[in-house]
Amino acid sequence: MAQLHYPDLQVCVLAAGRGKRMHSNLPKVLHKVLGRSMIDYILHTVESLRPKGIAVVTGHASEQVREHVGQPANLSWVIQDKQLGTGHAVQQCEKVIRDVRDVLIVCGDTPLLSVDTLSALIDGHRAANSDVTVLTANPANCFGYGRIVRDEQGKVQSIVEEKDASADQRDIIEVSSGIYCVRYEVLFDLLHAIDNSNAQEEYYLPDIVPLALKAGQSVDAVPMADANEMFGVNDRIHLSQVEELMQKRIIEDWQRRGVTIEKPDTVRIEAGVSIGLDTTIQAGCYLIGSTQIGDECRVGPNAVLVDARLDDRVNVFAFSHIHGANVGSDTLIGPYARLRPGAELDEKVHIGNFVEIKKSVVGHGSKVNHLSYIGDTTIGSSCNIGAGTITCNYDGANKFETNIGDNVFIGSDTQLVAPVSIGDNATIGAGSTITRNVAEGGLTLSGRTEVKYLSGWERPQKDKS
Ligand code: UD1
Ligand code: MG
Repeated sequence: MAQLHYPDLQVCVLAAGRGKRMHSNLPKVLHKVLGRSMIDYILHTVESLRPKGIAVVTGHASEQVREHVGQPANLSWVIQDKQLGTGHAVQQCEKVIRDVRDVLIVCGDTPLLSVDTLSALIDGHRAANSDVTVLTANPANCFGYGRIVRDEQGKVQSIVEEKDASADQRDIIEVSSGIYCVRYEVLFDLLHAIDNSNAQEEYYLPDIVPLALKAGQSVDAVPMADANEMFGVNDRIHLSQVEELMQKRIIEDWQRRGVTIEKPDTVRIEAGVSIGLDTTIQAGCYLIGSTQIGDECRVGPNAVLVDARLDDRVNVFAFSHIHGANVGSDTLIGPYARLRPGAELDEKVHIGNFVEIKKSVVGHGSKVNHLSYIGDTTIGSSCNIGAGTITCNYDGANKFETNIGDNVFIGSDTQLVAPVSIGDNATIGAGSTITRNVAEGGLTLSGRTEVKYLSGWERPQKDKS
């Protein structure tokens, strides 16, 4: 798709509302949909239009919103101290807007809104040479939306809010999305003329429609193809509904790009995740945060990946949990493995069942296949770490490191008491407790008790009396 560019457009994002129905300490627009806050979605969408500037109107908890967003170069913050209505909110932007052709007004709580829909609105507005253009929709349920009132010729006359509408007006099935494109030259004169004589005693933005008509200006409507896009979040039920729609969109996008997703209704793939070609995601997987998965991987079923990075051809078997770890190509993990932050696996590594790895490097081709804890450790290449090996990295107060060279064989049920290092090609006998450094090569084992054999010994029998 060709890149969009509207250098003569100013965007206003309305985000000052309290979001009372969320019942939250967090401002509404900071609530997350698939790991990304609502304000980030809308800002990303309007930034794709490459407008001249973006003004964000905040009021409730504005400091929190500003801290979250930071300070992009073309973004200005506008404070609306009292939330007197959507018209009043746009009015506050007057001092930060100048020398543009049109102003695009969107709300901060509609993360599903797409850039294609916005460019269709702007292009429609400009093609018709309109002064005021409203984006409209025919949703399955019109409750709560402003209704579009048209005359016999089909020209838009006004927008009537649910609370102000007559019974007949409530039957209208075309509603306002709350999103407008307005010619800059007329916008602020219209806003100065609105009043708050309505059911909510608010300065309604939609009231610019009859005022524009009265002033001999032209008003048009551009219908949107998918009414879901204007879905605004007012409470946590809406939040989960929007998340469901967004999840479907994200999953279908990955499917179109060559990812196989089994039982898509059971997986969660957050907005910041990326997945390579010919990778298969099996049922019940959670791919969270900034997780990146390479090509031809297989993940699941029921694996959880949080901020994880997998190179190509990695197999993550069932019920494995990977958080903040990097995994080299052709590596096998699980089932039931846990990689914690700072785990760095090279290529062709095998990590088996009930193995936990924390802040450790595992070298090329090394295997930790069963029941181990590896923490604060560096393992070289081609090592075999036997079942039940534990790195004792913590003395109750401080953490210590373990260093294992290349081609080392650690026998089963070994404890490596850190700080300790094991030289290249060393072999550690099963059941050892290693409390000092081990040289290269050779066999090292800690004291074992003698194995006795008592011939003729019999197991006790159960007393039958
Ligand atoms: C609004 C529209 C309605 C439209 C609907 C679409 C008005 C009067 N009504 O209704 O026609 O169908 O959106 O969802 O415009 N806001 C501020 N400052 C304020 C008031 C609101 O910044 O003083 C912001 C809110 O944070 C929100 C947006 O404006 O992001 C819309 O406000 P909201 O109260 O949700 O309006 P609706 O009742 O949904
Ligand atoms: Mg709303």
